[in-house]
Amino acid sequence: MVRSPDAVALAEAAATLRAGGLVGLPTETVYGLAADATNPTAVAKIFAAKGRPSDHPLIVHVADAGGVGHFAASVPGFAQRLMAAFWPGPLTLILPRRPEVAAAAAGGQDSVGLRCPAHPVAQALLRACAEVGVPGLAAPSANLFGRVSPTTAAHVRGEFGSDLLVLDGGPCRVGIESTIVDCSRGVPVLLRPGQLTPEQLSAACGQAVLLPDAVPSAAPRASGTLEAHYAPSAKVRLMNAKELQTALDMLQGVDKAPLAIAVWSRTALRVKSTVVLARRMPDDADATAQQLFGQLRDFDAQGVKLIWVETPPDAPAWAGVLDRLSRAAAS
Ligand code: TXA
Ligand code: MG
Repeated sequence: MVRSPDAVALAEAAATLRAGGLVGLPTETVYGLAADATNPTAVAKIFAAKGRPSDHPLIVHVADAGGVGHFAASVPGFAQRLMAAFWPGPLTLILPRRPEVAAAAAGGQDSVGLRCPAHPVAQALLRACAEVGVPGLAAPSANLFGRVSPTTAAHVRGEFGSDLLVLDGGPCRVGIESTIVDCSRGVPVLLRPGQLTPEQLSAACGQAVLLPDAVPSAAPRASGTLEAHYAPSAKVRLMNAKELQTALDMLQGVDKAPLAIAVWSRTALRVKSTVVLARRMPDDADATAQQLFGQLRDFDAQGVKLIWVETPPDAPAWAGVLDRLSRAAAS
């Protein structure tokens, strides 16, 4: 059931997690499906519920930087500077894992992904959990494997039904998943783009954050980096404004069919067909990220078969949005 995150619901959520159950967790990026990161049986329930292969590592959420020592074997200086600059916030760091902890959550990797979320409900739950002996929460995005990430409590209920306890933290402020920086190989490497740009990250850590292509050695498996991911049921296609307008012009006069095509564009386009549902994308990257997954879900709910999206600008601030849209379009 979806619950308002009052003291009673928070205590119940902490007790559920302590007992090895799952809870829907609001964060500022997307909602997570949380379990006690140190309980392999509880972690197995996440993989089963999502249909996610059990060798895909999960992110472990901690209340503050003080919680890192429980899971990480060592923290390089550049990682400490990233934490100081961006935690709590939408940044996940991959660090060498203490071998005796959270092996299941880490999907067997010798590293662990750690994140300290800023959302007040996530913070309150992590603190309540720490008090009952749960030092961190493993939480991937609360969606079935490969599907669109949830940015409202209602999205989570739609994925997992009403038996799951979901704390309602409102719509997510960031809207796309955290930026992931691998800090386990001596130099910082960007594994997943998000709201924080490489420029911001490099400035904060005092050295260049590299793109994965610059580091050819085997990258750890990251499902968020599989080519086809974040996919709605409708086919997503990216086009520039001119291509979009040409395609729309070809539909002129096509009015009998049911709603079939959704268009999401920054550019104002002429639509002369009733089979097209047109929505405007914000001019601003952060606002677009915030709306992205909800918009894809909404288009699906309207029953369209195609979603045509105007390709985002080729600018650092848009990298997270472009990454998620490209993956949605790859399936
Ligand atoms: O914003 C977020 O990060 C959200 C919220 C709930 O915190 N969580 C999220 O989790 O996106 P998930 O499981 O959907 O994506 C986690 C990503 C995956 O691509 C996973 O493979 C990668 O993090 N990851 C986790 N631990 C890792 C590790 N030890 N090495 C490499 N990649 C890791
Ligand atoms: Mg995910």
